[in-house]
Amino acid sequence: MVECEKLDKKTLNQPLMSMDSDPPFHKAYKSFFDKTIINKAVPSPTSSGSTSNYPLLVEECDLPLIDLSLLDLGDEAEIDNCKSQIARASQEWGFFQVVNHGISSELLEKMRSEQKKVFSQPFDMKSQENKYLNFSAGSYRWGTPTATCLRQVAWSEAFHIPLSNISGSDGLNTLSSTMEQFAAKVSNLAQKLAEILAEKLGQKSTFFQENCLSSTCFLRMNRYPPCPIPSEVFGLMPHTDSDFLTILHQDQVGGLQLVKDDTWIAVKPNPEALIINIGDLFQAWSNDVYKSVEHRVVTNMEVERFSTAYFFCPSYETVIESCCEPSVYRKFSFGEYRQQVQDDVKNFGFKVGLPKFLL
Ligand code: OGA
Ligand code: NI
Repeated sequence: MVECEKLDKKTLNQPLMSMDSDPPFHKAYKSFFDKTIINKAVPSPTSSGSTSNYPLLVEECDLPLIDLSLLDLGDEAEIDNCKSQIARASQEWGFFQVVNHGISSELLEKMRSEQKKVFSQPFDMKSQENKYLNFSAGSYRWGTPTATCLRQVAWSEAFHIPLSNISGSDGLNTLSSTMEQFAAKVSNLAQKLAEILAEKLGQKSTFFQENCLSSTCFLRMNRYPPCPIPSEVFGLMPHTDSDFLTILHQDQVGGLQLVKDDTWIAVKPNPEALIINIGDLFQAWSNDVYKSVEHRVVTNMEVERFSTAYFFCPSYETVIESCCEPSVYRKFSFGEYRQQVQDDVKNFGFKVGLPKFLL
């Protein structure tokens, strides 16, 4: 007992060495912690709807699971059935999982281990990343600079990397070559899915091949450190993605939640699967047929979580125009969309997104 107390005091007073790699959340947001009355009350089970303040109390479910091997191995009916499943999930969920996606588990594991290595570096190194890691300036992000209370703080750190930039970005290190291999594979998958989604809208389109090049896409490595008050703080605030589609590889910890029929639901991790979600640009391009759905990440007290997201984006000049009439949104360039998102975040503290472009 006495031993235990001693240990506790020691642990509290001397943070472990590994803590050095965590961003200084406690220090940066100390005033928010001081102001927050931590609600330890057990929430009632009925409070798990979309208005709930308790992101932990959410039902877990399996996303639609689609076997992509049918696209290569199936007969004509099976191929068409697989394509229909992709289109239906994109309409009804805006989210689905794929297995037999063509990205080997070896490559996924290699990517994850390189990602862990980068995040385990001291915070001071990561925050000067262009000096040490040679990524472009501003690719390392943590927390939420515009937050005014704990509820608006993202308890996570990320490298958000333009793929035009990774080649040879870390000299002898294997991170950049692993990212390149990963991006090449995932980009093929993204092209394939986008083409299917276009075809199911009746479009025989070379739009994605012409405008979404591997150099215009982004790779985001996320890390969610354990959080002392998970019921109060998100790992990533509710948002939609500002791209055509996102391919996500997550670990087995869980924490991703999405809105389905006005209710938050938690995605059950599947070790074989990649998660695909429709972004704002596909929703606009499909004239609201495919849904860019709000999602968020919740934290936990015990373990860190990792995920890798590939954002399938066009060049900034690319004009996004509805594929059918009458069009719901006015046409806009991707550059214009990004600028609007950045301006809204600056002015209002949040992204407005597609509603800004309604006709
Ligand atoms: C994102 C995102 C989800 C996750 O990076 O946009 O939604 O599970 N990530 O990390
Ligand atoms: Ni997202």
